[in-house]
Amino acid sequence: SDCQLAKQDLKGKKVLVSAGPTVEAIDPVRYLTNHSSGKMGYAIAEVAQERGAQVTLVSGPTKLSPPQGVALIPVTTALQMQAELENHYEAADYVIMAAAVADYRPVRAAQQKIKKGTDKINLPLVRNPDILFELGQKKRQQVLVGFAAETQQLLVNAQEKLFKKKLDLLVANDVARQDIGFGSNENEVYFLSPTSSPLHLAQTSKQQVAEKLFDLLLAMTKRK
Ligand code: CTP
Ligand code: CA
Repeated sequence: SDCQLAKQDLKGKKVLVSAGPTVEAIDPVRYLTNHSSGKMGYAIAEVAQERGAQVTLVSGPTKLSPPQGVALIPVTTALQMQAELENHYEAADYVIMAAAVADYRPVRAAQQKIKKGTDKINLPLVRNPDILFELGQKKRQQVLVGFAAETQQLLVNAQEKLFKKKLDLLVANDVARQDIGFGSNENEVYFLSPTSSPLHLAQTSKQQVAEKLFDLLLAMTKRK
């Protein structure tokens, strides 16, 4: 969209966004990942930049090109994503965790390509850190936003994440739906905050979801 027309209501603000999947190596040729396209996080970064923010985008591997004027930090694994987000956390005013972080990674990546053999093999996995939870624990001036990807009990599960992770806002979306979400240019979401009841946003472009997100955040921080 047109920079000339965008309101500059994020001028002087530092916005830190994560996007895309993480990719966790199994061996030199194989990996664990998920269906995240990165489109939601990239739309958030683009809208923030257009509205005048200084934007850092920490992104797992995607097919997207970074929005104009956004500082892109490419990462692969959850541990790398965590390290980069922690580097930029202290300076940030708004932190928006749109990445789909792998909850588990292989205990170790095999040095050599794993050869096939027996009918059944085990692949031991270990928990990745919950990056957003840990950012919540050390929150100061930052306004912290998470996403919840659910396939059932959307609002109940999302509410729990909002409180557990000490978020100021949570964007909940139903990833079981085939028509929206992963890979799509559109989304339908609920915005949850600790202080008000869930706000439904009817299906719209990810750009418009991003616009609404910043409208809500700015309204919230004015009230602080
Ligand atoms: N998240 C994170 N680090 C992880 C897992 C998730 O920072 N290791 C963040 C995501 O970026 C998202 C939020 O936490 O903003 C919720 O992610 P989601 O996968 O919906 O929830 P989880 O807390 O991982 O719980 P579960 O997958 O068991 O539902
Ligand atoms: Ca998860």
